[in-house]
Amino acid sequence: MSADNLQPSSKQQPSKQQQVKPLRISFLVSGNGSNLQVLIDAMQAGAMPIEIVGVISNRDDAYAIKRAQQANIPVAILSHTESGKRMGIKTFETHASAQLAAWQPDLIVLAGFMRVLSAGFTDNSPAPIINLHPALLPAYKGLDTHQRALQTGERYHGCSIHVVTAELDAGQVLTQALLHVNPKDSSDSLQARVQALEHQLLPWTILLLAKGVLPLNANDTPSEKISHLPVLPLRLWLDN
Ligand code: GRF
Repeated sequence: MSADNLQPSSKQQPSKQQQVKPLRISFLVSGNGSNLQVLIDAMQAGAMPIEIVGVISNRDDAYAIKRAQQANIPVAILSHTESGKRMGIKTFETHASAQLAAWQPDLIVLAGFMRVLSAGFTDNSPAPIINLHPALLPAYKGLDTHQRALQTGERYHGCSIHVVTAELDAGQVLTQALLHVNPKDSSDSLQARVQALEHQLLPWTILLLAKGVLPLNANDTPSEKISHLPVLPLRLWLDN
């Protein structure tokens, strides 16, 4: 057999259209980073056309930092100023903007990021920003979502991924994953069950964005291009 026979034929080679340029993603985190880990694993397995180009943490004790470092992903810790003072949001945003400008992401993902960003930051972001929220928006914006859903006696609960705007948890909801609330659910059990949904919803949503199925800039996308798609949010029934 000649060396030529070992070369893939032109039929087997991916066409230019099939070669998807990886979506460059930066994460903003504050804590454990289990959602970040799911995306690191998918990237390392070659399962998704993404490249995580950097992680910003506003806490120096966030476990997410270790996860990123173990995967050789650049990390910026923006928790304190040089004088040791806790960083105010304005200083954080100034440093974060400079860091993001250097990394040039196509998408910024807030996953467990616990600071509220100002309109100045969100309006001038170098890339669209999405946030993972542990409730079925527009219900239960803000904190303590599981406790509040239980107190109301909700039959359904879940998580949402939405575009970040200046108004807290109010931007366009792109996707949601739902579950049934069990009569025996506590706030902790619900939190664990919703987090299991998040670990599926985030990669699905990013894959749909990377493939162009979901528009990253809905405002810039010609309406005829999205008029044949289901009305957002896309709901995934991932009950467990
Ligand atoms: C998630 O439950 C998310 O909904 C909330 O913060 C949590 C982050 O978890 N905003 P992790 O840091 O990704 O483990």
